Amino acid sequence: MKILVANWKMAPSTPKAALALAKSTMAITKQTKKSLSVIACVPSVYLASVAVSAKSLVLGAQNVSTATDVASTGQISAAILKALKAEHCIIGHSESRATGETNELIREKLDRLVDQKITPILCVGERERDNQGWYLSGIKDQVESALSSIPKAALKRIMIAYEPVWAIGAKAEREATPVECREMVMYIRRLITDMFDEKTARSIPILYGGSVSEDNAAAFVTDGEASGLLVGRVSLDPKRFGKLATRISTI
Ligand code: PGA
Repeated sequence: MKILVANWKMAPSTPKAALALAKSTMAITKQTKKSLSVIACVPSVYLASVAVSAKSLVLGAQNVSTATDVASTGQISAAILKALKAEHCIIGHSESRATGETNELIREKLDRLVDQKITPILCVGERERDNQGWYLSGIKDQVESALSSIPKAALKRIMIAYEPVWAIGAKAEREATPVECREMVMYIRRLITDMFDEKTARSIPILYGGSVSEDNAAAFVTDGEASGLLVGRVSLDPKRFGKLATRISTI
């Protein structure tokens, strides 16, 4: 089963538009459900209403607080996300790391989610590449740090998304190639093998994200060896997202 994560980021801008998008996404999910598992990571404020009006949509959040004390103004805990029916949660997204989130903080977030049995979608990725491969050590730190205190039993419930920062969003330098994706999927599996074992490394889904579109999606899954995709902008356009989902569901 391939995985398709929609990351709506900070959109749509009204509850009405969010419900409409949720319904279109749910329809796409139904059409492709035999071979594709779709997860909609919506802004947390929309979780409750989307859960009611798009009942079969599998929901995720886009970040979580490490705080457990209720005296944490403005924060949303893993326990609240759980109560709002979020089954997954993105952590370590480059747009969140850019606000100052450290590897240590992301590890704590992962632990909070695991405690609530919410699947963390751990994003890792380098800001830039160099020809000598030094950027690999940054990925190693991100993966090893995030997984350093995870209980073995929880390893079957995590996902990793490789998202090179230079390939994300409207300001992307360029798209990544399927070969660049495959090399990194292999590298991350190797890191997990070294930390745990090969069986674990094979079982953790490794997704690709960064300027994924209906045109390049299939290649990241076939040649790129990604277990699925994490899609930002295109997930806000039901027509394009539907095409993308159909393409990867027929691989
Ligand atoms: P994008 O975003 O598909 O718009 O590049 C991906 C992401 O940030 O997760």
